[in-house]
Amino acid sequence: MGKTALITGVTGQDGSYLAELLLSKGYTVHGLVRRSSSFNTERVDHIYQDPQTANRSFVLHHADLSDGVALVNLLRDIRPDEVYNLGAQSHVRVSFDAPLYTGDVTGLGALRLLEAIRASGVDTRIYQASSSEMFGSTPPPQNEQTPFHPRSPYGAAKVFAYWTTVNYREAYDMFAVNGILFNHESPRRGETFVTRKITRAVARIKAGLQDHLYLGNLDAVRDWGYAPEYVDVMWRMLQQDEPTDYVVATGVAATVREFVESSFSHAGLDWTEHVRYDAKYERPSEVDALIGDASKAHDLLGWKPSVLVAELAQIMVDADIRQVEDQLAGATVRIDR
Ligand code: NAP
Ligand code: GDD
Repeated sequence: MGKTALITGVTGQDGSYLAELLLSKGYTVHGLVRRSSSFNTERVDHIYQDPQTANRSFVLHHADLSDGVALVNLLRDIRPDEVYNLGAQSHVRVSFDAPLYTGDVTGLGALRLLEAIRASGVDTRIYQASSSEMFGSTPPPQNEQTPFHPRSPYGAAKVFAYWTTVNYREAYDMFAVNGILFNHESPRRGETFVTRKITRAVARIKAGLQDHLYLGNLDAVRDWGYAPEYVDVMWRMLQQDEPTDYVVATGVAATVREFVESSFSHAGLDWTEHVRYDAKYERPSEVDALIGDASKAHDLLGWKPSVLVAELAQIMVDADIRQVEDQLAGATVRIDR
């Protein structure tokens, strides 16, 4: 019998790659989908299985991280071997506009899930999607010993979820781990995160669909990796003998400006002719520099990233160019795999 996993946030960037990975390993994958007035499953449509399919290996359930009772019921029904908590209001800038909602879903949501595991009595392992955003203003390089100093409601909510996960491990002997992941991107990245906003604009500018791209702070430094490689390490964390927390990063730094330059030049464009500043995209308090030291993950999990920032920009630009070409040709636009 293969294992069973429950993924919250299965419709997101990471959730979709993780679902594919677990299916390829023979898991039965259950995904939590929140109710929306229009379809919100585009990233997993290619692995969707109709409810009429016999012995489904991929099953979606309507629930929400704000609804603790639904989480208990879901866990009782599914009895997963592994739970991956990827669901969150994950946009840092938006967390300043919706701080209470972000605290509720991104912070308390993790606690609800941990309590639901206890209440349901299910013996399972849980991965919590923690974030380099928790380090905030503490200077790089950042590793598992680096103190947190969050700079946004999102970062503060993730710190709450982090310590709650540690506490459930210590108090209840749960196999609960935090993956402290640095920024990771892909052609499936949400369109309002800076990398995808840039690569999508490059494709549209090249096709003559827009002239300008408006951005905020170009000086911020990030450690950008490739999302499919980051979901692999989530799975590895839950296969260990002992639960512990890990930083996951490439260790390679780039500014937003450098990502802009790489992306535009890959498409044969001069970024200075197209990029404009709009203060609207600045944050009330910024995280200036995140550069991770993932030595522990390298040593204990045997994990090493292979796609670094320059190649990442090329992968994303090429995928967005293909998507725009498909759109212009009137073809059914398929999410890049
Ligand atoms: P994402 O693309 O924004 O996906 C977030 C997922 O959470 C989506 O499936 C979303 O559903 C779901 N969600 C939002 N509110 C929810 C609610 N109230 N109840 C249940 N589900 C809800 O994020 P991602 O990039 O895949 O990141 C996955 C996780 O890792 C997140 O927790 C994020 O904070 C964390 N993280 C990400 C990075 C990164 O660089 N990508 C780095 C560190 C940590 P909809 O599809 O309906 O919106
Ligand atoms: N989104 C966005 N839009 N960011 C911009 C823009 C813009 O127009 N212009 C400049 N930036 C800068 C931001 O100020 C930030 O310093 C940097 O680009 C990256 O922004 P995002 O791509 O929105 O990501 P993030 O680093 O704030 O957060 C992401 O990474 C975290 C891990 O460190 C998200 O995926 C979080 O969920 C994740 O935890």
